[in-house]
Amino acid sequence: MKIYEITFSATGRTQKVTDIISSVFEGDKTRVDISNPNFKDKIYEISQDSFCIVSVPVYNGRVPTPAVDNLKNIKGNGATALLVAVYGNRAIDDCLLELKNILAEQGFKCKAAISAVAEHSMMPQFATNRPDDEDKKELIGFARKIKEKLDSNTLSETINVPGKMPYAKSPNLPIKIKVNKDCIKCGKCAKVCPVSAIPFDNPSCTDKSKCITCMRCISVCPKNARSLPPVLLSIVSTVAKSQFKERKGNSLFL
Ligand SMILES: Cc1cc2nc3c(=O)[nH]c(=O)nc-3n(C[C@H](O)[C@H](O)[C@H](O)COP(=O)(O)O)c2cc1C
Repeated sequence: MKIYEITFSATGRTQKVTDIISSVFEGDKTRVDISNPNFKDKIYEISQDSFCIVSVPVYNGRVPTPAVDNLKNIKGNGATALLVAVYGNRAIDDCLLELKNILAEQGFKCKAAISAVAEHSMMPQFATNRPDDEDKKELIGFARKIKEKLDSNTLSETINVPGKMPYAKSPNLPIKIKVNKDCIKCGKCAKVCPVSAIPFDNPSCTDKSKCITCMRCISVCPKNARSLPPVLLSIVSTVAKSQFKERKGNSLFL
């Protein structure tokens, strides 16, 4: 079986969940990285007999904007899709519904979905070190159930996922990346920024109108020169704390 892993992962947490789920499926695997800033130049045609694991992180209850744009370059041609929304222990809100609607529009058959918790990339004090062993066991169990149904051709033609329309408004968070004097202008951040918000000729800047605060530039900087403004971040964390208190779960939708 031809398997596609179509993933947007700014800091690797969504990729980690995808790897756990994908480990259950055997076949000829192709990775399609829709967080790559050069992705927009490509058009992908998926063949009908393929199985696609399409994974995104939840950003403000929605699919990240560059993932929405890049998914529009992929033609599903009736291929089966397993949708995965990875969230930082707050909520997925309308993310899975939005993903399902985008993929249906692109010609995929959305036959299974998973929501999974991973460490919050902006506030790693929430869901720290998740997915943990308990999550891993559960996610593998979900993937095995999907595989059984896939192999026996008994997956439903469509699924119900949580969410409502109109989708939650995705606010443009007032948190913007700071760059300190340790920046050596190596350009690593500019190369990987999914929205090309960092100019190659002046990587110590960030175009605030493009930045989606995905945290990728902070995570790749070899000098730790990039960061979120600590006071603002601490206010946001304190305000949000009550929404993150209890351990949230992973869910399977079939
Ligand atoms: C801008 C932004 C918005 C986020 N919004 C949410 C959210 O609405 N709900 C939630 O539970 N987690 C939220 N998160 C946490 C991420 O969904 C989570 O950490 C995810 O695993 C990040 O995946 P990545 O490492 O593949 O980018 C947000 C993270 C960022 C950076």
